[in-house]
Amino acid sequence: MIGSARHAVAVSAGGEARDYEVLVGRGLVTELPRLLASRMSAHRWAVISDETVGDLYGRELVEGMKEASLDARLFTFPAGERHKTRESWTTLTDQLLSAGCGRDTVVVALGGGVTGDLAGFVAATYLRGVPVVQVPTSLVAMIDSAVGGKTGVDTPAGKNLVGAFHPPRLVAVDAETARTLPPTERAQGLVEALKHGAILDSAYFDALEADLPALLDGEAEATERAVLRSVELKAEVVGRDEREGDYRQVLNFGHTLGHALEAASGYRLPHGSAVALGMVLEARLGERLGVTESETAGRLADAVAALGLPGRLTSETDRVAALSYLTTDKKRREGRLRCVLLRRLGEVEGRGGWSRPIETRDLEAVLD
Ligand SMILES: NC(=O)c1ccc[n+]([C@@H]2O[C@H](COP(=O)([O-])OP(=O)(O)OC[C@H]3O[C@@H](n4cnc5c(N)ncnc54)[C@H](O)[C@@H]3O)[C@@H](O)[C@H]2O)c1
Ligand SMILES: [Zn+2]
Repeated sequence: MIGSARHAVAVSAGGEARDYEVLVGRGLVTELPRLLASRMSAHRWAVISDETVGDLYGRELVEGMKEASLDARLFTFPAGERHKTRESWTTLTDQLLSAGCGRDTVVVALGGGVTGDLAGFVAATYLRGVPVVQVPTSLVAMIDSAVGGKTGVDTPAGKNLVGAFHPPRLVAVDAETARTLPPTERAQGLVEALKHGAILDSAYFDALEADLPALLDGEAEATERAVLRSVELKAEVVGRDEREGDYRQVLNFGHTLGHALEAASGYRLPHGSAVALGMVLEARLGERLGVTESETAGRLADAVAALGLPGRLTSETDRVAALSYLTTDKKRREGRLRCVLLRRLGEVEGRGGWSRPIETRDLEAVLD
């Protein structure tokens, strides 16, 4: 039960806002209304979901909230990344305004990462900011996006270009919602869990390897364990560096090359798949530079294969396009290209900064 707070992690939100709790358990629809009523007071509750999650859980949650005497209403938008836009932000904001939601409204972001980012951004800006409770239902959201306070929308010029830091007041995870998630979506989220193990906790990496079949099946117990440990690890990092200045970079392991592959594929390659391959390639890069213990890339490649994701370049992951992205666009925008490198599984190279500049010839070599 979420309400029993069996698994609670406190996340420090730096100087920006109060700390918040992440509760991981089961029984969203039955437990969450009581939990909300006991922890927060609000005049109005605006539950925001995409249409898929709204149908699966949203209506039932709102009914449960009403039974707990909370004045709740469901607002939905069409599912999918292409609706994480300023237009959806406008529509939802206008709907909240015409529903008469005042300053004492709490937004409940119920859904995957798209919902968390979009509803979080609505909350960040609504009447100059109202609290948001994150209730992640995809593994990407449970394991990654619901904790950390980043919210925002995409624009034609790129992903997540408009947004705000708006740490949630509370995060409540019902691991059972993973059951209805398509298996391919589960794999996408589990990539970030493997990343947490790879950079911070080798015992967690081992445990994940053993649990992967159960996790891919959406089993609640295994999901609960993984989400809890990932949240603990991400909370530790975010608590040390809420605003990404320095230490938070370690979470970018696999992402320098991952983003390049994602962009090179014209975003046909999903983020998780791109990062999975990015981790393997960045480990290989570290091995080549003598920083990363040998066989690390091999272990990562095996785990990625167990998720059913590509561990090597395919036609979808165009080497030439990735290289040109890395050496031109990216370099021009962000100065010298940098990667977070592992020392070994569970440990990041930390001497002289948490990432290091990478030479083009080394990139060419690992992308071969
Ligand atoms: N804020 C951050 O720190 C952060 C971190 C990582 C990713 N993100 C963002 O997260 C987004 C990706 O998240 P996502 O993969 O969850 O996408 P998503 O929210 O679109 O969810 C994926 C699909 O799964 C469906 N779904 C969600 N939960 C379900 C459930 N329990 N049962 C059945 N279907 C369900 C959704 O309707 C959607 O169709 C991207 O926009 C990315 O930028 C943000
Ligand atoms: Zn990522």
